[in-house]
Amino acid sequence: MLRLDKFLCEMKTGTRSQVKVFIRKGLVTVNGTTVKSPEQKINEKADTVCVNGKRVSYQKYAYFMLHKPAGYVSATRDSHDKTVLDLMKEPGNPLLDRELFPVGRLDKDTEGLLLITDDGELSHRLLSPSMHVPKTYYVEIDGSLSAGRQECLRQGVDIGEKHGKTRPAVLTEAEKGGFCCAEAESAWLLTITEGKFHQVKRMMQAVGRNVVYLKRLSMGALQLDETLPRGAFRPLTEEELEKLLKEGESRL
Ligand code: URA
Repeated sequence: MLRLDKFLCEMKTGTRSQVKVFIRKGLVTVNGTTVKSPEQKINEKADTVCVNGKRVSYQKYAYFMLHKPAGYVSATRDSHDKTVLDLMKEPGNPLLDRELFPVGRLDKDTEGLLLITDDGELSHRLLSPSMHVPKTYYVEIDGSLSAGRQECLRQGVDIGEKHGKTRPAVLTEAEKGGFCCAEAESAWLLTITEGKFHQVKRMMQAVGRNVVYLKRLSMGALQLDETLPRGAFRPLTEEELEKLLKEGESRL
């Protein structure tokens, strides 16, 4: 149970004082009945609350999938570069007024799946090194990969980390055709279960190749919706969210 004014504030309907005015003016209904007391307790999960006839649904946290384009940094603010949050503007969407942040970082020139949320606990779980959440990347490189080099990448390579080689990875050649980068000579799908700084680029460098294009396709159970244009975002579907939350739990 939650106070009506607190609920409306948390759902970003307005500031505490604005919300009180809405309520006193009779603009707020709970299950169809006008409520004029800000202190009234509501069941935030079961009651239907409307402001000006528009339903305000309870959502403890916000979860969005963003198709990150190159050229944006994975930060909430930056003095030089545009951030991924600069892409997330939609007037009248109160969920975007929350303190959102990207879960993990993609390099400025990397594209693909980025989860944006205000759920710190889920973020912590997904990023925790002990969780080994798999992340799959589509990687274009400036050369081919011999069977030997492929095996090295699968088993673990030295990228200069003090705790030894990278964890075992899954590597398969990606379907030919339609390289994103003109310098690309081969393309691969690489799944890693760590998130070291520039990890994919450093892994390829360790076998003498340079990444010329990089795109994240999935993180745990969450897959990039390929119908989402670069730079666009959308809320996670209930199914996506359920799978992601379960994944976070099952890896604990
Ligand atoms: N590995 C990289 O090298 N860069 C990324 O952005 C993500 C993984």
